[in-house]
Amino acid sequence: MRVLVGGGTGFIGTALIHLLKARGHEVTLVSRKPGPGRITWDELATSGLPSCDAAVNLAGENILNPLRRWNEAFQKELSPAAKNKLLQGRNKSANGITQGKNICISIPWEDPKGQGGLGQRAYYQPSLTAEYDEDSPGGDFDFFSNLVTKWEAAARLPGDSTRQVVVRSGVVLGRGGGAIGHMLLPFRLGLGGPIGSGQQFFPWIHIGDLVGILAHAIEASHVQGVLNGVAPAYSTTNAEFAQALGTALGRPAFIPLPSTIVQAVFGRERAIMLLEGQKVIPRRTLATGYQYSFPELGPALKEVIA
Ligand SMILES: NC(=O)c1ccc[n+]([C@@H]2O[C@H](COP(=O)([O-])OP(=O)(O)OC[C@H]3O[C@@H](n4cnc5c(N)ncnc54)[C@H](OP(=O)(O)O)[C@@H]3O)[C@@H](O)[C@H]2O)c1
Repeated sequence: MRVLVGGGTGFIGTALIHLLKARGHEVTLVSRKPGPGRITWDELATSGLPSCDAAVNLAGENILNPLRRWNEAFQKELSPAAKNKLLQGRNKSANGITQGKNICISIPWEDPKGQGGLGQRAYYQPSLTAEYDEDSPGGDFDFFSNLVTKWEAAARLPGDSTRQVVVRSGVVLGRGGGAIGHMLLPFRLGLGGPIGSGQQFFPWIHIGDLVGILAHAIEASHVQGVLNGVAPAYSTTNAEFAQALGTALGRPAFIPLPSTIVQAVFGRERAIMLLEGQKVIPRRTLATGYQYSFPELGPALKEVIA
C-alpha cells in the first residue's frame, strides 16, 4: 500500500515508518520541512495529495514540553479561536489528510483506504475509580479534553465512506523519545519516584504496540472507529510505574515529585495531565484482533532501557 504519514519525522512516526517499510508498504512523509521522500504541508495545500491508500496523521506539538511555560501566551497559542500554532498545525494537518483521502477515494482501484489520527488519553475525565473504554463519554470537561475533541473532529470526514480510525494513545514508552526520555536521567541517578500522590492511573503503551495498532488499522479492512492505544494486561498507577522503572534500572525509586513542583513547572492546568489519570481499557482494540507484543509493563520497560 501507499501510506502517507503526517508528522512522520517524530518519535512515533519514525517507528511507524520503519514498521510499514518492513511490511512492504511504500511511505511518503508530510513535514513542515522539505526533504527526500517528503512533501510539505504547503505543497499538500497547493498541489493536493499524491495518490495513496492510507493516510496517518501524527503531526502535533508536545503539550508537555517543560521548556514552554504554561502562561497566557501559550494558552492563547493553543486556543483554536486564536488560530494557534498547535491547532493550526493539527487542523491544517488533519484537513490536509482529509483532502488527500478524498483524492484517494476517487481512485477506484485503491482499497481499503484508512485514516488514522492519534487522539490522547486526555479525552477521558481523570478518576481513581472509573473505568473507560472507547465508548465511554468524555472530551468535554476541560481545555485538553476539548482540544482532543476538536482534533478528532478535524480528522473526521462527515458523510464519507472512507474507513476512519482514531487511536487514543496513552503515554508511549520507547527508546529515544517520549516520556521515558525525560524520566531516565533522574531514575538512573536514583532520584526517581512517583509523581504527586502516585495513586493516579498511568495508561501506557510500548511504542512497538502503538505503531503495531496503526499498521493493523491500515491493513485490516474491518478495523474502524475509535481504538484506545493502551496496554491491555492490567491498570498501572503512577507509583507502580515508578517502582517498575526503578526495578528495571536496578535503582531505588522512592523520591516523590511533589505536586507543587509539577504545578510550578507546568502550570496548574497542564499539571493535571501528570497528577491525575484514568483507567483506560482497550476493549475495541482487542476486539479487532490486535495481538500485543508488550502487554505487561516489566518486559516493556526492559526492552526500552536495554
Ligand atoms: N509520545 C507520546 O507519549 C504521545 C502520547 C499520546 C499522544 N501523542 C501525540 O502523538 C503525536 C506524535 O507524537 P510524537 O511523540 O511522535 O511527537 P514528536 O516526536 O514531537 O513528532 C511530532 C511531529 O509533528 C510535527 N509537528 C510538530 N509541531 C507541529 C506543528 N505545530 N504543526 C505541524 N506539525 C508539527 C513535527 O514534524 P516536522 O517537523 O517534520 O513537521 C514532529 O516531528 C503528537 O500529536 C503527540 O501529541 C504522543
